[in-house]
Amino acid sequence: MVKTELLLPDAAGLSRGAELLREGALVAFPTETVYGLGGDARSDLAVARIFDAKGRPRFNPLIVHVPDLVAAREFAVFDARAEAVAAAFWPGPLTLVLPLRAAGLSPLVTADLGSVAIRVPAHPLAQGLLRAFGGPLAAPSANPSGRVSPTRADHVMAGLAGRIAAVLDGGACAVGVESTILGLVDGPQLLRPGGVPVEMLEAMLGPLAMGGSAEKPNAPGQLASHYAPSAAVRLEAEDVRSGEVRLGFGPGACDLNLSATGDLVEAAANLFHSLREADLLAAGRGIAVAPVPEVGLGRAINDRLRRAAAPRG
Ligand code: TXA
Ligand code: MG
Repeated sequence: MVKTELLLPDAAGLSRGAELLREGALVAFPTETVYGLGGDARSDLAVARIFDAKGRPRFNPLIVHVPDLVAAREFAVFDARAEAVAAAFWPGPLTLVLPLRAAGLSPLVTADLGSVAIRVPAHPLAQGLLRAFGGPLAAPSANPSGRVSPTRADHVMAGLAGRIAAVLDGGACAVGVESTILGLVDGPQLLRPGGVPVEMLEAMLGPLAMGGSAEKPNAPGQLASHYAPSAAVRLEAEDVRSGEVRLGFGPGACDLNLSATGDLVEAAANLFHSLREADLLAAGRGIAVAPVPEVGLGRAINDRLRRAAAPRG
């Protein structure tokens, strides 16, 4: 448990929020849609803490918040259409899913997909915090998993006090529903209705197909871009069979360890990197993964491990 600071919407509040974010701590902040739970999108540990604080059972991809289009171009590839949509709707309640540019985001933010969801919020305090921090913020809605999104600082406190470092108090959010998510990876697709009316997007792009999101994929192919090890993965392995690479959790001999101390937040932060490393080490042999407890972040870790171990055609 930490004591959650309530930060005032002034220069001192913004600089304290930025300071906490630089330490890898979590700061909830107002946007025009709902309050976001912000953490440094480049830090594996900060992003793992977001999933832990929300109690999310899955590593679904998060939205990366940046102050403007120039910053967005660092992390995503914009074609002419994406440039035009961004020019028309940013800053504002529209998130664009675009091809990922290899530029230092934690793989936990993108769920290791080849795309990234980017948003430029219009709220002056979101803008102020992004500029004071000077980097991209991963920010899902600032509520425990499965509960409604918060639109006031006291809603955030009610759900997350003791689990996050601070809440920046900006009063009530004007829009009150999440941003609209537009996919621009394989042609325009509406991934989530939200703050920007679909009609406004269709006026510019023509009729929009309703796509599945990465959270609720409507076609198996949408998960195909998830990184899957080429090695066979054996889960809940109490022993190592000859030739296998051992991916450990907690104390004990192994080739790679998700967390030697058995810390689930550290294990989540290491997960995607470790799977790639284990795959390289295995060079075609199998990977034996130690059991990870099915509690807290362990549920999300096991969900991802089960996908890595699933038979592939
Ligand atoms: O209004 C909002 O957008 C709020 C405020 C805080 O800005 N944020 C928000 O973030 O709702 P989040 O991280 O909860 O939104 C995640 C949604 C999920 O439905 C996810 O499937 C989709 O964004 N998403 C993120 N990355 C994606 C990707 N690469 N491909 C497809 N969908 C993606
Ligand atoms: Mg939410």
